[in-house]
Amino acid sequence: MSQPIKVALTGAAGQIGYAMLFRIASGGLFGPDQPVKLGLLEITPALGALNGTLMELEDCAFPLLQGVTATDNAEEAFADADWVVLVGGLPRKEGMSRADLIRANGPIFTGQGKAINAAAPKARVLVVANPCNTNCLIARSHAPNVPAERWFAMTRLDENRAKAQLAQKAGVGVGDVSRMTIWGNHSDTQYPDYKNALISGRPATDVITDRSWLSETFIPTVAKRGGAVIKARGASSAASAANAALDCVRSCHVPTRGDDWHSVAVASDGNPYGIPGGLMYSFPVRSIEGEVCAIVPDLHLDDDARSRVDASAGELEQEREAVKDLLGPAL
Ligand code: NAI
Repeated sequence: MSQPIKVALTGAAGQIGYAMLFRIASGGLFGPDQPVKLGLLEITPALGALNGTLMELEDCAFPLLQGVTATDNAEEAFADADWVVLVGGLPRKEGMSRADLIRANGPIFTGQGKAINAAAPKARVLVVANPCNTNCLIARSHAPNVPAERWFAMTRLDENRAKAQLAQKAGVGVGDVSRMTIWGNHSDTQYPDYKNALISGRPATDVITDRSWLSETFIPTVAKRGGAVIKARGASSAASAANAALDCVRSCHVPTRGDDWHSVAVASDGNPYGIPGGLMYSFPVRSIEGEVCAIVPDLHLDDDARSRVDASAGELEQEREAVKDLLGPAL
């Protein structure tokens, strides 16, 4: 058997954490032959609840699980991790604005960035906690030992939502939708790019000819799906977010097959689309052997698409401005 892969997870007693842990430990992330270790971080008051989750993990007797650390000390949880998934933070509640969330969650990521820098400089890091793009930027800015290409913020849930909507409209399975890009921020300004997507290998716009549905229903349905789930469920997306986090880590970890790509926010510096540097911006990305995630170049963006991708970059610049006092030296 190969060496275990260590995944560190923050917010491990929360709803997304609970929906992720058992799948990681059972082989649902890296496959049935890959042993794993877990490093779980929670705030002190949640350690009791986390202990209950640990008891359940034990009771599952997962053969692949080769060790678990559960702690309120970030460096201990992150030590020597291969992947750190930052989920811990306040979820958005009904009526809570994005600005409220940015100021509430931002400070968590200064400390966690420093802890990753000290304890897990070889890790790759996925930020799920919202506002995930900007939280990722904050953490990255405090981790000079961890190169920019090792940082990711999650837009995979948006990608999955977009694929599901297109598949439903076209009457095909979700597996028939490929090349689905989410551009920009994990927020209402994101641009789910149906114009470069394929359905059963054909341009999505050839298969779905209802243009007004694509621009007036599809885009807002995807972009506002998180709010719709909160309204219906009384709580933010959890199982689907956990599933997307696993999809995202797997897609970044394993070379991309065929001519498909996936969406994830990466450092925007030097990108081929003229998006300003110094942001964590979601692009179409291909994972290449040797752990590199490369932005797919040369996609056509018409005027409408261009104004949407620029608007989302503008929002990310505003978010960066709102947290500039929290940014560290590594940007
Ligand atoms: P939750 O409230 O159920 O769990 C969050 C957990 O984080 C709690 O157990 C809390 O004790 C813990 N926590 C808080 N501060 C912490 C810290 N400093 N260190 C470690 N743990 C800490 O929330 P849920 O539903 O699990 O959501 C977690 C985050 O994920 C939220 O910020 C939410 O907005 C975000 N999210 C992101 C999505 C995306 O697509 N990027 C989708 C859905 C949720």
